[in-house]
Amino acid sequence: MRHLNVLNLVLLLTLPLCAQKPVYLDETKGIEERIDDALKRMTLSEKIGVIHAQSKFSSAGVKRLGMPDFWTDDGPHGVRPDVLWDEWVQAGQTNDSCVAFPALTCLAATWNPSMSALYGHALGEEALYRGKDMILGPGINIYRTPLGGRNFEYMGEDPYLTSRMVVPYIQSMQELGVASCVKHYCLNNDEEYRHNVNVIVSDRALREIYLPGFEAAVKEGKAWGLMGAYNIYKDEHNCHNSITLKKILKEEWDFDGVVVSDWGGAHDMDQAVKNGLDMEFGTWTDGLALNASNAYDNYHLSKSYQKAIEQGRYSTKELDDKVRRVLRLFFRTTMNKQRPYGFLCSEEHYATARKVASEGIVLLQNEGGVLPLKPQGKKILVVGENAIKMMTVGGGSSSLKAQHEISPLDGLKQRLAGISEIDYARGYVGDVTGNYDGVTTGQNLKDDRKPEQLVEEAVEKAKAADYVIIFGGLNKSDYQDCEGHDRKAMELPYGQDELIKSVAAVNSNTVYVNISGNAVCMPWRKQVPAIVQGWFLGSEAGTALASVLVGDTNPSGRLPFTWYNNLDEVGAHSFGEAAFPGIWRDGKKDIIDEEYKEGIYVGYRWTDKQKIKPLFAFGHGLGYTTFKVSNLRTENPVTTDGNMTYYVDVTNTGDMEGSDVVQLYLTDVESSVDRPAKELKAFAKVSLKPGDTKTIVLKTDKRALSFWDEGTNDWKAEPGEFVAHVGDASDRLTCKVKFTFK
Ligand code: GLC
Repeated sequence: MRHLNVLNLVLLLTLPLCAQKPVYLDETKGIEERIDDALKRMTLSEKIGVIHAQSKFSSAGVKRLGMPDFWTDDGPHGVRPDVLWDEWVQAGQTNDSCVAFPALTCLAATWNPSMSALYGHALGEEALYRGKDMILGPGINIYRTPLGGRNFEYMGEDPYLTSRMVVPYIQSMQELGVASCVKHYCLNNDEEYRHNVNVIVSDRALREIYLPGFEAAVKEGKAWGLMGAYNIYKDEHNCHNSITLKKILKEEWDFDGVVVSDWGGAHDMDQAVKNGLDMEFGTWTDGLALNASNAYDNYHLSKSYQKAIEQGRYSTKELDDKVRRVLRLFFRTTMNKQRPYGFLCSEEHYATARKVASEGIVLLQNEGGVLPLKPQGKKILVVGENAIKMMTVGGGSSSLKAQHEISPLDGLKQRLAGISEIDYARGYVGDVTGNYDGVTTGQNLKDDRKPEQLVEEAVEKAKAADYVIIFGGLNKSDYQDCEGHDRKAMELPYGQDELIKSVAAVNSNTVYVNISGNAVCMPWRKQVPAIVQGWFLGSEAGTALASVLVGDTNPSGRLPFTWYNNLDEVGAHSFGEAAFPGIWRDGKKDIIDEEYKEGIYVGYRWTDKQKIKPLFAFGHGLGYTTFKVSNLRTENPVTTDGNMTYYVDVTNTGDMEGSDVVQLYLTDVESSVDRPAKELKAFAKVSLKPGDTKTIVLKTDKRALSFWDEGTNDWKAEPGEFVAHVGDASDRLTCKVKFTFK
């Protein structure tokens, strides 16, 4: 009996110890404490195991310590369907169809950060349901040229708009315990030679134009992941670059997350070890692994790195920093027991897709008030391949397997059933394929008729229609809006200009809806009364477009980039091929030097400087009502700390409820360096009923007054006079106020 008591006593005393969780598993402890504990427990092999891929889209956890594998997936607009472990082809799952959200250019065109929050939340829930711990997005490279193949994935030409729109997307996704991986850091502004291009750019342009979106994503968004870009900067690949990753990102911006390589973006072990890369994905290891299967041991940060440490070539200093960051990512995601379950294809997600799409559509022109349609009893002819072609498949890694995609034609048919008679004419044949990595649209768009026959059919039908709505633009095939290539010209492809001109000549109620992620030339603009920018709108494309065209939605989108008349108006195309696409170094097809000779003068900054009147200005967009922006005033005409508060009244002077986007641009009247005529530094979207007026408060700080001083390598706001211009487009600034910074 006595022995039993002793045993009980021993058990009683040691129970708390046995029951005591190891620190790294104890969620009551802080993450940094858990990291310290886990790091101590990991073997060298386990440390190496977590810093490189083990499959196309996953990396190893630490099974011995109960840390699960880590799963990533594309992309910025929706969760990519699963591919096989080590193949780019479809895994053939039946539970990975998703909601295709609008492309990020559309999100930016809403000029509404609350839309970004909705977006990141919905995408994060879809990722959670699909078991993805990190989404490889958002993409926020700056729109430097309208030929950029992946501009549709990004947020336009302006660093401030991009900065405001990227932060809520990241925050709302990461609140769910899903990491964002902001990409492609940095200077990946075109596609054709993305693996070879060495970008030469001034420090001012780098800091003032190309980095602010990433800086905001890190400093305000607190992004947990960031993807290095393929291209080269100062002769180091951006997936392991001592300046962009170590000096700027990790030291200056204090980034505590993980730098992930783009797939195949790592090229050198020593640089991968020392220059800021933390997780290596998709590497071909200089051909050692090209087409080899399961070649993950060949990766630069795999066995060769482990061997180099074992041989004393490296301490574990760099390795431990990488592993700390990966463990931090684990504790924020896979090891975070507070994560919810997520949802896939919920009605809430479709509602988000519709809301962002409807709010991002831009009414570019509406002569004679052709829009909104008065459809009752009318004959409406719909024309164009983009009225029927699925756009969620293709475009590169952002391609999706959407649960459904409502085409513009179907959207109009659904909305106007029993109201209008809707007919269709193909108009042109563009890209009849429809597959990516084994996901197919299932559409048969084959049409062997000659172009002139297609135009003739459309023209004949147009003569008898009350309205003609042409859906044209680009698509997601190569050399259109697609990863891996840039467009070869700014003009519309497939003979669309001829089609549009011919149809508009016989019907005065012609509406052209451009589906694209880029600006296109519009030589027929004066012949077409109404023009709409329709973006790649995802699953609910047709619903959103119909809603705007019939007036259920009052369009409130604003252009996130300048819509040039032609390439001659673009800074990137004004300095010869050295500026775009670059010149091969030493005549070899190895490195192509591309010099951003336009410097900080990108987009409206360029057209202002050159006194160019673009077709449609940055920030432009019309609605079915009108607004007045007036009575701009400030609290203080002098600021010593650089902070300014502005008040401006917005009135809905029309007869329909709608939203306007108040935009504030600053001018530095006198400065020691050349500065743009104006720069966007604040904006706010406001919804108003007819006749209502609201006073909007806008704020700017000292950074908004500053330029990057290449002498001191820091931001500098020079004392002197500034002017704030306020309106609802960069070419519709109706108020201004001066103030002095002392
Ligand atoms: C691609 C893209 C990147 C994508 C990755 C994985 O090459 O550049 O955006 O996330 O590889 O598919």
